[in-house]
Amino acid sequence: MSFKVSVQPAGRDFIAEPGQTILDAALAAGMVLPYSCRNGTCSTCRGKVVSGSYEAGVAPERILDAADLAQGYTLFCQARPTSDLCIEAEEVRMRGDIVVRKMPVRVQALTPLATDVIELTLQLPSAEAFNFQPGQYLEFLFKDGSRRSYSMACAQVHDHRVQLHVRHMPGGAFTDRLFGGTDQPLKARDILRIEGPLGSFFLRDDDRPIVFLASGTGFAPIKAMVEGMLARDDRRPAVLYWGGRRPADLYQADLARAWQAQRPGFTFVPVVSDARPEDGWAGRTGWVHQAVMADLPDLSAHQVYACGAPPMVEAARRDFVHLCGLPPDAFYADAFTSEADRAEVRA
Ligand code: FES
Repeated sequence: MSFKVSVQPAGRDFIAEPGQTILDAALAAGMVLPYSCRNGTCSTCRGKVVSGSYEAGVAPERILDAADLAQGYTLFCQARPTSDLCIEAEEVRMRGDIVVRKMPVRVQALTPLATDVIELTLQLPSAEAFNFQPGQYLEFLFKDGSRRSYSMACAQVHDHRVQLHVRHMPGGAFTDRLFGGTDQPLKARDILRIEGPLGSFFLRDDDRPIVFLASGTGFAPIKAMVEGMLARDDRRPAVLYWGGRRPADLYQADLARAWQAQRPGFTFVPVVSDARPEDGWAGRTGWVHQAVMADLPDLSAHQVYACGAPPMVEAARRDFVHLCGLPPDAFYADAFTSEADRAEVRA
């Protein structure tokens, strides 16, 4: 049986077919709600059910706190209606030229950025448009039905190419191939299949100052956003906090320093959580989101764009909203979820 889902405050509705999640039904109807992982591990699709019944699906209590659950919040990428529903969610306005497509791509280059990070350049088919908003991601589609998600690390397609930043996850089937850990290493000219662009992580039109927050390769979509701002001479004040365990994890810190030198109103704050004496690190230390709170205890007039490991993103969302006055709808996030994260949620 299908059900009608009404979305507030947009005042729009769509039909969810039997077994469809709220998010899938919205996307199928051409309405984009906030989303990232689509597998119940990141909380980007968190939204409120105002009335009606639904099956919550994969354990939302693992990533939503008790207060959220008590108020009717759930994960729209997991929840399936069992009656007509009224929900509260932001409707994401996509650029009109953005179409999600599946296509083959050719590996054009594998460039080491750090001992455990590779820049993967993909050659796209010249006959197919691949437009995206800086911050969005694509998925690799593998023959066994599995998928891997990576954000574009560039603001737009150039020469039919896009770049991704891939961190080695030892034991991970895909990244072991990139880092030569299998007898089937991925190499230039190999063909892969992708779907994209995906996700709702991109800059919203606004004039509030921006806090960019990244951990590890969460830098990739932030890089795309900043380069997009530079390209269109967007002068909004912006500060980037990029956190890593060791200084070498901030693998393009020189690029971020160059942005600071070249663009008035842009500041870069590198933060290291586990500096050792041999690192000679004289910069900020500790957890990256706590560095933001120390510098900007009042975030009530900011927008935050955060990307990185799910625990960092969730801690930032919670603390910025509850302790620093950030409006909940001014926090935009993309959380990198690994196969290990997904397995934990499925367990
Ligand atoms: Fe639903 Fe990530 S998109 S939890």
